[in-house]
Amino acid sequence: MTMKKRVPFVTFRTRVRDETVDGPNPYRWENKTTEDYFGGRRTILFSLPGAFTPTCSTYQLPDFDKLYEEFEKHGIESVYCLSVNDAFVMNAWGKASGLKKVKLIPDGSGEFTRKMGMLVAKDNLGFGLRSWRYAAVINDCLIEQWFVEEGLSDNCETDPYGASSPQNILKTLKSLETESAPDQSERLTAL
Ligand code: BEZ
Repeated sequence: MTMKKRVPFVTFRTRVRDETVDGPNPYRWENKTTEDYFGGRRTILFSLPGAFTPTCSTYQLPDFDKLYEEFEKHGIESVYCLSVNDAFVMNAWGKASGLKKVKLIPDGSGEFTRKMGMLVAKDNLGFGLRSWRYAAVINDCLIEQWFVEEGLSDNCETDPYGASSPQNILKTLKSLETESAPDQSERLTAL
């Protein structure tokens, strides 16, 4: 049996609304750890090159949000979108996208992405270091399923998108359940 890989332990610096904070911008810093997001539940993480970028904003993020209830039917309790962007950018993106279900994780320093082996240079686009596109089903901090786009490389001229799409992950979850479900005809014979 292969050992499941554990997601790296890091602390994320988030900004949360707090009405007790005076002034026109009532937000405060809140540290969240890997354990806070991924501990004790089955989740999906998808990670992408940047907030507000076209494929991420037009397809990947809204499609995960729309398909959230479908994922719930397959035992997923939270869906997280991570990007190597700071908390201010991620909050602004969440607000602009009108997100209902997907939660955003700011990995501004790229520490989580680097420890996942997914940090790539995107200097060809003036982006600096960013996340390669990938997604994972994570159960209590252990990676159950892994979906990485092909061609992981620095300064990649293309932006492959398919493996880490919500449609592909849903299809995979469904087919895994079909494989592991007891064959009804065998069951009836055994009775
Ligand atoms: C996109 O999501 O379309 C995109 C991502 C990174 C760089 C440029 C575009």
